Amino acid sequence: FIPPRAQGAGGGVAAKDDLGNTVTATGWLSTHKPGSRNLVQGLKGDPTYLIVEGEGAITDYGINAICTHLGCVVPWNSGANKFMCPCHGSQYDATGKVVRGPAPLSLALANVSVENDTVFLSQWNETDFRTGEKPWWT
Ligand code: FES
Repeated sequence: FIPPRAQGAGGGVAAKDDLGNTVTATGWLSTHKPGSRNLVQGLKGDPTYLIVEGEGAITDYGINAICTHLGCVVPWNSGANKFMCPCHGSQYDATGKVVRGPAPLSLALANVSVENDTVFLSQWNETDFRTGEKPWWT
């Protein structure tokens, strides 16, 4: 859970839904179940997954859906609990960590924050918690 911030999300953008409307936390949580991963338009317009972790909680990171192999948008497969790329079969776990190639790298992360009920995405510059390494996308 990310508590609302008083400050702006330094350089962040408001997440947009598929109709181009700004995503609100209450709206999203009323229509998406815990465990869901669904796309919004995020940084640079990249399709980015928002994760609902529990009741009333949007996870504090989003997952960029662009496959690190050749750039297909990777769908979430809830049955397999993985992101599975339809183009050449790469797979990523529920956090976007690559578990099967040919993709060379995990999916990029973005910070997610909620301010006045608006969901913001901003650049993830911190250590990649899945690998313990610097983010490859910065
Ligand atoms: Fe995803 Fe090739 S673009 S596996």
